[in-house]
Amino acid sequence: MESLRFVLPQSEIPTHWYNVVADMPNPPLPPLAPDGKPATPEQMGAIFPMAILEQEMSSERWIQIPQPVREIYRLWRPSPLVRAARLEEMLGTPARIYYKNEGVSPAGSHKPNTAVAQAYYNKQAGIKRITTETGAGQWGCSMALAGQMFGLEVRVYMVKISYQQKPYRRSMMQTWGAEVFASPSAMTQTGRAALEKDPDNKGSLGLAISEAVEEAASRADTNYALGSVLNHVALHQTIIGLEARKQFELAGDWPDIVFAPCGGGSSFAGIAFPFIADNAAGGRNGKPVRLVAVEPSSCPSLTKGQYAYDFGDASGFTPLMKMFTLGHDFMPPGIHAGGLRYHGASPLVSQLYKEGLIEAMAVPQLATFEAGVRFAHAEGIIPAPESNHAIRAAIDEALRCKESGEAKTILVNLTGHGHFDMASYDRYFSGELEDFDYPEEAIKASLQHLPKFG
Ligand SMILES: Cc1ncc(COP(=O)(O)O)c(C=O)c1O
Repeated sequence: MESLRFVLPQSEIPTHWYNVVADMPNPPLPPLAPDGKPATPEQMGAIFPMAILEQEMSSERWIQIPQPVREIYRLWRPSPLVRAARLEEMLGTPARIYYKNEGVSPAGSHKPNTAVAQAYYNKQAGIKRITTETGAGQWGCSMALAGQMFGLEVRVYMVKISYQQKPYRRSMMQTWGAEVFASPSAMTQTGRAALEKDPDNKGSLGLAISEAVEEAASRADTNYALGSVLNHVALHQTIIGLEARKQFELAGDWPDIVFAPCGGGSSFAGIAFPFIADNAAGGRNGKPVRLVAVEPSSCPSLTKGQYAYDFGDASGFTPLMKMFTLGHDFMPPGIHAGGLRYHGASPLVSQLYKEGLIEAMAVPQLATFEAGVRFAHAEGIIPAPESNHAIRAAIDEALRCKESGEAKTILVNLTGHGHFDMASYDRYFSGELEDFDYPEEAIKASLQHLPKFG
């Protein structure tokens, strides 16, 4: 019987993260302070520990993973690489499809890869409390879990609509010891101002980030942690691609094309960046691996956004980053992949896209659920709605292979399971889900508010 699961021993958990900056043709553009000058480490030090800021600015190719972090990773890593043979058969494709299953972490997604590292560095720096935001709940759960592992208090501002729709994500965070508030909340000036304007405000990721940053900046014992977008988050996630490369060697195969969902861009960065090192050296089989970020067509930051300096949050508390953005006050339509409802994309992912080293595509919501259900029928696993975006793209590629007769090797980042997203699946089954058109007018209006320099 042919092996379908490629599992590394725990001794093979990578010892270093890979920093793509070392292989980028041009250095990344620096974050800017609101006055337009490069943000100083002192300004950023109000909310991040120095070790993380060093990683944020580093151009070292390899950065050592601290042993206590590897010891926590050991609870679920290395994650399996699995050949989706039943899906291939169902599609009747000559393509070989593999998925890297990040849904096996205790929180159910790739997010603990960075949450554990961030909790460790904050603990080392003497920090007692972490504030953060969560949209769909995956990141908040991951930070709650990591805080528990290192004895840090965690306070999560959860986008109000998710707080109401996903009570069990809230219970999970509470089980791991975190405090959870619906955002906008009465706890911060930002929250109070938003509620005054609209007592019914359902919240957004940008607003929740503003609340968490405001609180962290006002207390010396408290730092802030972000679950995506920033360079250090992308760095920590590279453990996914580093393991996958070793697992492909075990399988005696190598990907031609990699698909990952793209919200802030960390899971895409995590699986794709280690292959950029190969591509920079001419590619394994003499050809580069194609690396494709898949975003929702209703929140298309890479494919329809503008490459410009913009804030990472709705209120303008964060430094300005050069990224593909839809405008920091863009309110994405109510799509069900909550983790993809972010106005921008990681500056590293954005720059690599701008320079043509990676690709991006957008897919509509209904097609992603159709793909997720097909995947569940074939492979058993019910994917997170975010992961369904990458699965949609992979299925379409496999069907193109069926037409052309090509036996391509396709790799998908299965970033999480969908066990807490069944209300969204229910809405899909009952026909209540819709495709939201790319809201051109809303994006145009929001892009009017881009900061005026950079
Ligand atoms: C399961 C899952 N996949 C993907 C994402 C998208 O985020 P990122 O682009 O940072 O990977 C999220 C974000 O919450 C998520 O929960």
